[in-house]
Parts: sequence; C-alpha cells; structure tokens
Amino acid sequence: DKIKIFSPATVANISCGFDALGLALEGKGDEMVFNKTTTNTIRITKIEGANLPYNIDENLVGIVAKIMMQDANANFGLDIEIYKGFKPGSGLGSSAASAAGTTFALNELLGKPYTKTQLTKYAMLGEEAACGSQIADNVSAALFGGFVLIRSYNPLEIVSLPVPKDLFVTALHPQIEIKTEDARNVLPKEVSLKSAITQWSNVGGLISGLYTSDYDLIGRSLQDVIVEPVRKKLIPHFDAVKNAAINSGALGAGISGAGPTIFALSKSEVTAKNVLKNMQSTYENTGIDFSIFNSKIS
Ligand code: HSE
Repeated sequence: DKIKIFSPATVANISCGFDALGLALEGKGDEMVFNKTTTNTIRITKIEGANLPYNIDENLVGIVAKIMMQDANANFGLDIEIYKGFKPGSGLGSSAASAAGTTFALNELLGKPYTKTQLTKYAMLGEEAACGSQIADNVSAALFGGFVLIRSYNPLEIVSLPVPKDLFVTALHPQIEIKTEDARNVLPKEVSLKSAITQWSNVGGLISGLYTSDYDLIGRSLQDVIVEPVRKKLIPHFDAVKNAAINSGALGAGISGAGPTIFALSKSEVTAKNVLKNMQSTYENTGIDFSIFNSKIS
C-alpha cells in the first residue's frame, strides 16, 4: 500500500487571533509519499526542497509517525518521501504541513481510526518538536481546510468557519528565516486589559465578517495590537509592505504566523493582482530576496 498526499501551507493568527485562528492556502504546500513496508522500521528515504534531517528521531515526520504507529500497534513499516513546496521558517506553516500531512496519511494507512481533532493533537506533537510549543493554529488549518478557530486548547476544540468566496490571499516571503521559537520569545508575558479588549473585539468582528461575507468588516478587524507591534521589528520593511497592500486596495495585511511572510487579504482576484504588484515593487527596492504569490483559501 502506498499513499501520496498534499498538505497545504497555512497562515496562522490572521492578525488578531494569535494561536487561535488559521487559514489554509490553495495550491501551495508539501507532497509526501508513504509506502507501507513489511519491515518493522520507519525510514525517510527522500527529502527534496529543504535541508532537513533523515534521522526519524530528529525529523518531525518521523517523530509523529512513530508515535501514531506505536499507539495503534501498527504491524507494518514505512518508507517516507518528503517533497517540500516551501521553506521552513517562512511563517507559512512549513513544520505544520509536514506534521498535519503525516497524521492524515497515517490515519488512512491505519484504516481511519481518528477524527480530525485527534489528528490535530498528534500533529501538535510535531509542532512541539519543531518549535517547543504545542500550537494548533497551522496544523488544524491544514487538516480541516478553510478558516479555523481553536475555541479551546484544553480540551481541544476546533471550529470550522465559512470562507467568503471572493477572498484572496497575497503572501510575500522575504528570504530570511525566523524561528517560531525565537519569535515567541520576544512576546510580552502580559497584556493590558485595554489591548485585550481591542483584540477580542477584532476576533469577534473577523468571525462575524466571515459568516456574513462582510468584506469591509473583515478588513476593519484585521488589526493586531498585541503581537504585531513587537514582531514587526524582526521583519525588514514590514510597514512599507503593509501600507503598499492597503493603499492598493487590500482589506488588511499583517504577519503570517511567526513571520517573516507578510500576508494581505483582498476582495476579488483583480484587487489581489494589484496588491501583489504593489507589494512586489515595494520590496524590489530593498535589495532583499523574496518570493510572492496569490492564493485562494480552501
Ligand atoms: N501562532 C503561532 C505564532 C504560529 O504566531 O507563534 C506559529 O505556529
């Protein structure tokens, strides 16, 4: 038996929802092939697109596969091929795509014993191996698709949210690596009540906007007064790119996950193309290499 899977890149936080909101991109992500073997071992036989360890105790794909197979008393081995479609440390959920894809494939090979929420829990162990914290936003977005809200971490509760049909994501990825762990270490341990009120009001506004396809409400709610002000210092020319996006018609823009990718949301493909063009020309003047693309949410 053999299964080939695609696991999408994801945007976590979506400005106001630190560790609580995520969305899945269409067409950007990793492919992995899982071959069942008659041995008792798990091997990673191929990795393309990134420089990652083959040792299964050092690669989160191996770590997650091993735990799931032990828990299920699996009586087979695995040869795994990993084709990374985007780079680790990009802020687009690279480790999450690997972790979520592994849990999805293992669930198929084991005869589908698990729910998506249970798979999210396994994938969070991969996130812990990658960045030191069991974060669910990227992995649940990759497993559930569309927009997700982590309503609760304990017990884990994921809520799938509607995707307004004209929404497009633009993502600009400066070619610098930010480790999620480092980007978490700069965060404040406490927030003021005033900031908290602004933040949860925006989360409510964003979710209401998703349910009613109220694009302007979505745009007004894409604000982050807690995490972005601290983290944007790690991302060269963040404000210039964000302003370029908003001035060319984007509903809003912010940091994708832990960065350095900067994302913008737009209503309509035409606007998204214009937003991409202006974000691109803004970054071309900086001398820093980058890549940029548009995507639907799915
Ligand atoms: N919510 C996480 C963060 C995303 O911003 O640190 C990375 O998994």
